[in-house]
Amino acid sequence: MDKGSTVDIMPAEHINDLLKTPVLDRDVEVRGWVYRTRSSGKIIFDVIRDATGIIQVTIKKGNLPDTEFEDALRSQIESSVIIKGRMFQDTRAPGGYEIRASSFTLVGTSAPFPITEYQSEELLLDNRHLWIRSREQQAVMKVKASLIKGARDWLDDNGFTEVTPPIFTQNACEGGVTLFKLKYFDREAYLSQSAQMYLEAMIFSLEKVYAMTPSFRAEKSRTTRHLTEFWHLELEEAWVDNKGNMEIQENLVSAMVQKVVRERKDELQLLGRNVDDLKEIVPPFKRVTYAEMIDRLKNKQFEIDFGCDLGAPEERAVTEEEKLPTFVTNFPKECKAFYMKEDPEDPRTVKCADLLAPEGYGEIIGGSERETDMDVLVAKLQRQDIPIEAYQWYLDLRRFGSVPHSGFGLGVERVVRWVCKLEHIRDAVPFPRTVSRAYP
Ligand code: 4AD
Ligand code: MG
Repeated sequence: MDKGSTVDIMPAEHINDLLKTPVLDRDVEVRGWVYRTRSSGKIIFDVIRDATGIIQVTIKKGNLPDTEFEDALRSQIESSVIIKGRMFQDTRAPGGYEIRASSFTLVGTSAPFPITEYQSEELLLDNRHLWIRSREQQAVMKVKASLIKGARDWLDDNGFTEVTPPIFTQNACEGGVTLFKLKYFDREAYLSQSAQMYLEAMIFSLEKVYAMTPSFRAEKSRTTRHLTEFWHLELEEAWVDNKGNMEIQENLVSAMVQKVVRERKDELQLLGRNVDDLKEIVPPFKRVTYAEMIDRLKNKQFEIDFGCDLGAPEERAVTEEEKLPTFVTNFPKECKAFYMKEDPEDPRTVKCADLLAPEGYGEIIGGSERETDMDVLVAKLQRQDIPIEAYQWYLDLRRFGSVPHSGFGLGVERVVRWVCKLEHIRDAVPFPRTVSRAYP
């Protein structure tokens, strides 16, 4: 039975506002969901949850109409309710206050909630549409929103124009292996792995651009840092070299993290993240060349030689003890994409940087200066067996007024995972898509 449609929707207070500025001289009204409930016959102790927090509510027979008391008795966890009453200080209650109810409206009843205290990861994932009501998930989603807001604010303040690249594409930007192919009427197309090539086209019009889009990678391996669909914040800048590109990255990442520090202290605390650690995330970040990293790894007994890409274990080993993010520059050209510019000072390598988060979380950004020499680009495409025809439009960018330029892509969930100290990247997104799951 759901009486939802018959309830008058009146303005109500938000729980956290009440806990921060208690209102003791009049009745208050809160609405939300039953988070916990226990009763001793004549008195019911509920904890009510809304989008902002939780508060204890005491419902005592005689203080409200009997029918409402009966409704309170039969309401279960996750029933939706509206409560009126007076606030009183109570040191034992979460937040230090409780509401003594003079009115209880059961808006929507709840079937027995399938999620109880100790649940398997699989059950939580099957019930993701319900699990996102949990306080941890709520906190992660809020931190993520603040990170994105922090990024947009910084980018808008620094002269970047937000643009809207396509998702259907006929180009592989990051190699064929992780492409999601689909039938596009009578042709083949892919879901975008990266907006980079389109952003490169747009700098010739707008000079400094960014886009926040979903990117798709058919990642078949099960890892704690790969999703098949993730949110990608990508930037491209005309007249900027790899050094300038790194400065933009450290300023952007710092602005994102400091926004969270200002706006989301309670959420960070709930997630067990020390806010003071995040306050230290300010430029300059560390800079290390790939070659130096290889030496460090060898000292840590890794069997790795110049030429191999860094994987999660390597990245973890070199950042575990770090407090600040680290740029790893100058990767060997064989392990990076065709569009990266060769470094004339060390032609074995390209002018690129991966930004690794501290505490072992690993890569959060991949970026580089872009190759502007048409012949070099064509040769690299050919060497990697990429059919040139589909890239003619991209090569045009070098034919018509080419300029030095750089850019990068930041994995939003990778940053959320680090900032929220999450074991697994799937908890950085409300409805994770991985090799084993696209439901719910
Ligand atoms: O390093 P990647 O593959 O670089 C690019 O796509 C460039 N075209 C970006 C650019 O220069 N515009 O991906 C960029 C970032 C990674 O550093 C990582 O944070 C994130 O995207 N990422 C993923 N996040 C979650 N799941 C995956 N499967 C990811 N693959 C990449
Ligand atoms: Mg990368």
